[in-house]
Order: sequence, then C-alpha cells, then structure tokens
Amino acid sequence: MADENPLLQRAVSLNGDPFAIREFYAGWAKTYDTDLLLSIGYVAPMIAADALVKNVGKEALVLDAGCGTGLVGIELIKRNYDLTIDGIDLTPEMLEHSRKKGAYRKLNEADLTGPLFEIADDTYEGVVSAGVFTNGHVGPDGIDELLRILKPGAPLVLTVRDSAWEADGFKDKVEKLEADGTAKLLEVTHSPYHTKEDIFCQLVVLQAA
Ligand SMILES: C[S@@+](CC[C@H](N)C(=O)[O-])C[C@H]1O[C@@H](n2cnc3c(N)ncnc32)[C@H](O)[C@@H]1O
Repeated sequence: MADENPLLQRAVSLNGDPFAIREFYAGWAKTYDTDLLLSIGYVAPMIAADALVKNVGKEALVLDAGCGTGLVGIELIKRNYDLTIDGIDLTPEMLEHSRKKGAYRKLNEADLTGPLFEIADDTYEGVVSAGVFTNGHVGPDGIDELLRILKPGAPLVLTVRDSAWEADGFKDKVEKLEADGTAKLLEVTHSPYHTKEDIFCQLVVLQAA
C-alpha cells in the first residue's frame, strides 16, 4: 500500500483554519480531480452519491455541502436521477471548477463551521457531504446546521475519515443527536476512502427529525 499523498497529509493538518484551508484549496483546485481520482483512488464521492440516491426521491432538491470541484455532482448525475443539486463551499477557486462541470443549479460560497444564514430551515430533501468532515476541516458541530436546513425525514449523508471519527468527536456527536431526538441514525458503514492507500472512512446516513 502506498504512503499517504503529501497534499492530503497537508490537507488534514490545516487545523480548521478557514484562511489556511481556502489558500490551500485555491492552489490545488486545478489538479485536484486528477490528483485524487487517479493517484489515490478517492472514492468518497461515489459512495456518498450511492447512499444519497438510496435515500431520496427521484426528483429531490439536494445540497452538496463542501462540493469542492463538483465530483459528487458528477456522480449524482451519472445515477440517472432527476435531482436539482445546489452546492456550497468555502473556496471560490474550487467552486469555479464545480461551475464548469454543469451539474449544479446554484453554487455559493459558505462556511460550514458557522450559521448558513442564507439557507432557510427545512429547505432540502437531501444533503450530502464527501471529504469535508475530516481532520483539520469541519468538525462535528457542522452537522447541526445541515440538519436544520433539511426537511423533516430527509437524509444527511456524510463521509467521516476514520482518523477523525472517534478522535475528533464524530461518533459521540452522532450518538448525542440520536439521544436528543434531533436525528435518527440510518447507517454507519466502514467504507474504503482512498483505495490506493490504506485509508478508510465511516459512511454515515442520518435522518433529520
Ligand atoms: C477534500 S475536499 C472535498 C470536496 C468534494 N466534496 C469532494 O469529495 O471531492 C474538501 C472541501 O471542503 C471545503 N471546505 C473545507 N472547510 C470548509 C468549511 N469550513 N466550509 C465549507 N467548505 C469547506 C474545501 O474548500 C474543499 O473544497
């Protein structure tokens, strides 16, 4: 198994600092797709898209939270659903690449570590987020806003990198959301994340209360 890609090693050590994250991804946007898909066998967009379509209606309005260059949007289109897909991300240069892919209705800059002021309660019929709930990026509290903007009963699909699942408090957060009735846990599956490296994730599907 190959050592972890140096760019990914840097990505997971950004300490959640939005300025550092933006600068890092601005510089990576152009080669991100080939670096991830070819070099490390990044499969989070595929597994997240599969889980989302299993849990939404054929014509749902969905949000890709931390859409990056739009890999999840492309995967959703391939699955022949008639979804309307919006995307948000912290990094304008990443959003530019999403725009070029043509899979999204609306693309906006937003910070998932704070309130999503521009999105009303109960807006979406599904939310998906791949590769964002990971070390040095968005922590477990980012889940609260994504549940707020979901219609009751709608699914939230997340990949959480293994190295963050317990260490960064995601497992505890999911248990707390279930215990206080904010969400129901539909699935947690240990899944491949970087198939050419020895890196796995938890695929989490929550249902908004
Ligand atoms: C590893 S990429 C994943 C992108 C895409 N979802 C994918 O699977 O290819 C992480 C993305 O999260 C975004 N990001 C990191 N922190 C964020 C935050 N606080 N709010 C919104 N987006 C953030 C970055 O700009 C970057 O586009």
